[in-house]
Amino acid sequence: MASFKAVRIDKTDSGSQAAFVDFDEADLMDGDVTVRVTHSTVNYKDGLAITGKSPVVRRFPMIPGVDFAGIVESSASPEFKPGDQVVLNGWGVGEMHLGGYAQKARVKSDWLVPLPAGLDAAQAMAIGTAGYTAMLALMALEKHGITPAMGPAIVTGAAGGVGSVAVALLKNAGYHVIASTGRPEEADYLHGLGADEIMTRKDFEGPVRPLMKERWAAGID
Ligand SMILES: NC(=O)c1ccc[n+]([C@@H]2O[C@H](COP(=O)([O-])OP(=O)(O)OC[C@H]3O[C@@H](n4cnc5c(N)ncnc54)[C@H](OP(=O)(O)O)[C@@H]3O)[C@@H](O)[C@H]2O)c1
Repeated sequence: MASFKAVRIDKTDSGSQAAFVDFDEADLMDGDVTVRVTHSTVNYKDGLAITGKSPVVRRFPMIPGVDFAGIVESSASPEFKPGDQVVLNGWGVGEMHLGGYAQKARVKSDWLVPLPAGLDAAQAMAIGTAGYTAMLALMALEKHGITPAMGPAIVTGAAGGVGSVAVALLKNAGYHVIASTGRPEEADYLHGLGADEIMTRKDFEGPVRPLMKERWAAGID
């Protein structure tokens, strides 16, 4: 029986345990496309899954990896054919459905998108699910009619995974970008991504007085 290398998380008496194993191909879950995975990322959720620090894994054994990029090996879907380059983000992969920390993944064709032109698999996964999330946030702003002319955009957690991509995307979309960070030593990095101003998280700290929100709303200091 064919097997491939994978990280597998098994349930144990004390929680769960991750190990690098030979995974039997027959144990892959249902799906109409099988992908030879070439790249994945380390998302915060993957850290939680592998360390068992939070119960993000809903099925055992589990292969973690909430995203991957790779090449279609076989497909029963008219949407994809062998050799196509594809990307997957989310859909419960790595939590409920066997994920991307493996040489192979079998998934529903609906969950896959073609690798965008101009990106290779490594670049797509460097952007990763964190970058994808940042783009969803920008698209949500656009959907709600928010435009750069309405004022600056503040990105909190700016030096983090989602935040840093959000800074770059917002700048590219024409916003005046204010990056809020707890790590002012990352100012050069954030300016390099497109931040116009840096605010330290401390700027938001201080004693909160009773009814402060109501006072602000009424224009009282
Ligand atoms: N990554 C994803 O795929 C994904 C998907 C959906 C939702 N999310 C959510 O998006 C948020 C950011 O995720 P991430 O993956 O970018 O995580 P991350 O890389 O760990 O970044 C989180 C950032 O939050 C800031 N932060 C840390 N402690 C803070 C505190 N006490 N108060 C205020 N800010 C604090 C830090 O920013 P500085 O370094 O600038 O100080 C940190 O880098 C999380 O709420 C996560 O649940 C993430």
